[in-house]
Amino acid sequence: MAASWWDKKVVFFGGKGGVGKTTCAAAFGLLAAQRGRRTLVVSTDPAHNLGDIFATHIAEEGELAPGLRGYEIDPAKESARYIAEVKQQLQNVVSPVIMEEIERQVEAAYAAPGSEEAAVFDKFIDMLDRLASEFDLVVFDTAPTGHTLRLLSLPELLAAWIDRLIKQREKANRLLSMAAAGAVELKEKAEREDPVLATLKRRRARFTRARAFLVDDQQATFVFVVNAEKLPILETKKALTVLQKNHIPVGGIIVNRLLPDSAGDAFWGRRKELEEEHLAEIEREFRGLILARLPLLPGDVYGRQALDQVVALLDKQV
Ligand SMILES: Nc1ncnc2c1ncn2[C@@H]1O[C@H](COP(=O)(O)OP(=O)(O)OP(=O)(O)O)[C@@H](O)[C@H]1O
Ligand SMILES: [Mg+2]
Repeated sequence: MAASWWDKKVVFFGGKGGVGKTTCAAAFGLLAAQRGRRTLVVSTDPAHNLGDIFATHIAEEGELAPGLRGYEIDPAKESARYIAEVKQQLQNVVSPVIMEEIERQVEAAYAAPGSEEAAVFDKFIDMLDRLASEFDLVVFDTAPTGHTLRLLSLPELLAAWIDRLIKQREKANRLLSMAAAGAVELKEKAEREDPVLATLKRRRARFTRARAFLVDDQQATFVFVVNAEKLPILETKKALTVLQKNHIPVGGIIVNRLLPDSAGDAFWGRRKELEEEHLAEIEREFRGLILARLPLLPGDVYGRQALDQVVALLDKQV
């Protein structure tokens, strides 16, 4: 058993579109639950198929198997909910005039590209908060590589954005207190008691905490699913570089959909040969990172029977 990724609290599954991320995340989650860990599998794919794999329907959150829950995040819905929540929080603490200005700022910020990722990230932090009390493990089935990387670099982007807001707010407070005869105590009082500033600082602390969690290789890790084909390999190589640059720990790679032996057929013989070449490249490029190899199954992985097959294969290897 590769303890390096098995004992983590959060495992992200990433990789190129269609390589088997959702399948592997579901199988890994189920295996963990069967081994006694209270597990949550979270999907951020708007076209949800987590429920489908278990041949069930979870309305946002529901049970997938004993000890295993599923959560399907809807990025568009979360984004709208997130904006409403931020506004609500501020509404309670500021005057209507200031509120108009804040609403404009919040809307501008969240209409910007990346707003859905920001909302998904906020949800991700919610899930971290549920660790320990409710779950031992949270498995994230992420969107294809590019989006995921943007998502993971968000704590920094968001923290920078909030930093700017905090600075603006502090400047406004300073001007205010200068107008009030310039007493230092007044300035400090304004900052101490400013609820907007407090809200902003709380949010910044939340993002900072999430970032600290992400880069902690004792807690979180990233697993790539790859097929023995040119493009998935290239994309995974690029993604690995970006993650390493951002100090996000990589737990390893699952090679999925390996062809069976060709049994003399010329066409499949050639395909298998090609696959061997790609596999050799995977072994070279990702030395020491291969956690498991999964064969191409005769059918799609839908329903418990097929999923159990994948779980059994994984069980022998991790
Ligand atoms: N080992 C396998 N054998 C046979 N079929 C597989 C295997 N792994 C995955 N599949 C099938 O391949 C398809 C894509 O798998 P999956 O949905 O897990 O990929 P994904 O990486 O999550 O895709 P997306 O990027 O669209 O989210 C599904 O129909 C799934 O059932
Ligand atoms: Mg998927």
